[in-house]
Amino acid sequence: MITRSALHELRQLTRRVAAEVRDGRHEVHVDPEHRWYRLLSSDGYVDVWLIGWAREQSAELHDHAGSLGALTVVRGALTEHRWVPTDRDLRTRTLRTGASVGFPAGYVHDVTNTAVEPAVSVHAYSPPLTAMSYYRVEPGGLLRRTRSVLTTEPEAVTA
Ligand SMILES: [Fe+2]
Repeated sequence: MITRSALHELRQLTRRVAAEVRDGRHEVHVDPEHRWYRLLSSDGYVDVWLIGWAREQSAELHDHAGSLGALTVVRGALTEHRWVPTDRDLRTRTLRTGASVGFPAGYVHDVTNTAVEPAVSVHAYSPPLTAMSYYRVEPGGLLRRTRSVLTTEPEAVTA
C-alpha cells in the first residue's frame, strides 16, 4: 500500500542527502553532452541518485512504474511539467534550490533545466526503479503511453 508517510520519508531522505552534497561530501559533475548521474546508495529498498543537469538537459514525460520517488534541488532550478488528471493537462512549476517534491504512484512528469546555470538534484526511488513508461499529451487532454522500458536509471532519456 502506498502511503503518504512513505513519500514523506523519501523526501526527507533526499533533503538529508542534498545537505551532504552541499557540504561537499559527494562529487558532482555537470556534463553538457550527456546528463551526468551517479548512484549514491542502494540497499534493496531505496536507491538514491545524484544528477547534474546542464542547460536544456531534460527527461521526457514519464512515470516511475511501481516506484515512489522524491527529489530535492541542491542548486540551480528545475522546471517540472506534471500531468494533472483533473485538468487533463500539464501544470508547470519551477523547483528552486532547496525545493523538494514527492512522486506518488501514477505520477507522470518531465523535468528540465531551462536555466543557463547548471542544476544539481538528489533523487530517491522506492522500491528501486525497474521500469519507466513514456507519454505524450494528445489533443483533447488525453495522455497516451508511447513506450515502456526496463531501466534502473533515474529520469532516464531513452529516445
Ligand atoms: Fe521522474
